[in-house]
Amino acid sequence: MSTAPLLSVRGLTAHHGPVRALTDVSLDVPHQGLCAVLGANGAGKTTLLRTLTGLHPATSGRVLLDDEDITRLPTEKVITRGLAHVPEGGGVIVELTVEENLRLGGLWRADRRDRTTFDEVMALFPPLAERRSRTASTLSGGERQMLAIGRALMARPKVLLLDEPSLGLAPRVTRQIFTLLRDLRARTGLTVVLVEQNAAGALSVTDHGLVLDQGRVATEGPSDGLLADERTRHAYLGF
Ligand SMILES: Nc1ncnc2c1ncn2[C@@H]1O[C@H](COP(=O)(O)OP(=O)(O)OP(=O)(O)O)[C@@H](O)[C@H]1O
Ligand SMILES: [Mg+2]
Repeated sequence: MSTAPLLSVRGLTAHHGPVRALTDVSLDVPHQGLCAVLGANGAGKTTLLRTLTGLHPATSGRVLLDDEDITRLPTEKVITRGLAHVPEGGGVIVELTVEENLRLGGLWRADRRDRTTFDEVMALFPPLAERRSRTASTLSGGERQMLAIGRALMARPKVLLLDEPSLGLAPRVTRQIFTLLRDLRARTGLTVVLVEQNAAGALSVTDHGLVLDQGRVATEGPSDGLLADERTRHAYLGF
């Protein structure tokens, strides 16, 4: 098996108009890695995810997925290459049923003849299977986030990018979602990049953490080390 990182971000810089939102950001995520991206409001976390999936243009730098340069590919190609993005709030369509939302996610699958994925996602998320015919509007916040993750998995991604899945969720539900990510990795071999404001929670479930500060990498390292590092916690993580 290749020891090269599955996702490799090299010197990525991105702007919003004249404002530089990311400066020279580099990050390597190994196969089956769980990586947290942390930082205060406006640090550049969402811009990083959007630039990885081609929703926002990179000014310079490169993004490699499985050694393939995907930096300038249009978003639909990025997704079929294996990068799935769950935006902040999840982006499920509340008027549609659970099943319809999931089937929409399947439209992004590289091989659409593959019919196994829907049953697999149902098996991974029993609460969604029970609510398969209900509209997403009837789901709780945690179930909606689960549906958003399930929908992204319908594309059979190699790497799942999640933007603040804990937003608006109760602490108990947040823990369930974080634990779910670990279970998914164990059961499906998924690789995850988790953007979070909840730094303590995210570091407790990931292997690696990266802290952005005003668009630059302030520090990074093993998650347990960052959790234990008082200076990093005080300077960047607010706990
Ligand atoms: N559409 C936009 N137009 C102009 N500036 C933007 C836009 N989106 C983000 N920015 C700016 O880019 C910087 C990074 O924003 P970004 O949303 O990536 O941060 P974030 O870390 O995701 O913050 P949050 O924790 O609030 O979600 C901020 O200075 C922000 O004001
Ligand atoms: Mg954000």
